[in-house]
Amino acid sequence: MDRPKILVVGSMNMDLVMYGMTDLPKWGTSAFCTEYQYAAGGKGLNQSLAVALQGADAFLAGRIGRDDNGKRLLEQAEKAGVRTDYVKRDENGLTGLSTMNMGEDGKYFSIYAPGANRKLEIADVENALAHQSFDMIAMQLEMPLEVVYHICELGRKRQIPIFLDAGPAMSIPLERLRGAFVISPNEAETEALTGIAPDTMEQIEAAAEKIYREAEPGYVLLKLGSRGAYLYSREHRDYIPGFRVKAIDTTAAGDTFGAAFCVQYCMGKCLEDSIRFAHAAAAVCVTRKGGQPSIPTKKEAEEFLSEHTP
Ligand code: ATP
Ligand code: RIB
Repeated sequence: MDRPKILVVGSMNMDLVMYGMTDLPKWGTSAFCTEYQYAAGGKGLNQSLAVALQGADAFLAGRIGRDDNGKRLLEQAEKAGVRTDYVKRDENGLTGLSTMNMGEDGKYFSIYAPGANRKLEIADVENALAHQSFDMIAMQLEMPLEVVYHICELGRKRQIPIFLDAGPAMSIPLERLRGAFVISPNEAETEALTGIAPDTMEQIEAAAEKIYREAEPGYVLLKLGSRGAYLYSREHRDYIPGFRVKAIDTTAAGDTFGAAFCVQYCMGKCLEDSIRFAHAAAAVCVTRKGGQPSIPTKKEAEEFLSEHTP
């Protein structure tokens, strides 16, 4: 398939990014950062933008508030070629906001105020599916969990592959995710879902096996940061290393990885090649500052892949 059609369901946030944090504050104290900026973000918006830049037709279902932040996010999505027909404005609420507190090695912690993302409804997704057919639905967990569970059920009933980026980290009943095609948590999300920190190969396999047994997806795809990824299914126990690069900001790396994987897989690539390509796209992302501005195009990921070996 030349140009897959992918529906992304998920959060739209204004990110307040603070650079240069060295210490975490204690209650009653302040921590300092050196610079800050506002940037369009949210796992849903990032993923949809990455899907568009990676060469697919991206549709986004999400919620913004009636504020300037919402307007800016919508403009940003449309500028990148994302179809926003299924983004609704919440008349009373504020657009979601995340503070992204950046430390060393590109790592961050964030504080998330869901705002209008809380209002996303099952009906929004049903509406999109009533008007269009999609090759895949991609989603994350920054939205009401009932919507997440419903999309998993839809996937099974209507035979639509569902890709779940299981972020942010939270403990949820794995059996409610039955119907997902791929479940893809990062390290912290894996620990939150399974109680197992994926540090050693034994722990990685045990965590993946638990998700596979309880949520029964087609595949579990663990993102292991700089270490790469781990693919688990009945036929797979595959560790797929990432690329060695100097990471300066990992914001949106997971969103980029998931989007690039979905697009490549829908284009007909095998799982392993799709993961390798996703590693290349995410590696480019982590070498650039910022969230959305750091998401590469398909061409940039192809160039990186042709010049590097994992
Ligand atoms: P986010 O939630 O900010 O979008 P994440 O925490 O979900 O990101 P990670 O698990 O850190 O994402 O990484 C996702 C992918 O990004 C990895 O599987 C890998 O391909 C790539 N990656 C992350 N960190 C590095 C790094 N230091 N060097 C090379 N590749 C990296
Ligand atoms: O995955 C990165 C995103 O997570 C940021 O853009 C921020 O909005 C947070 O929700």
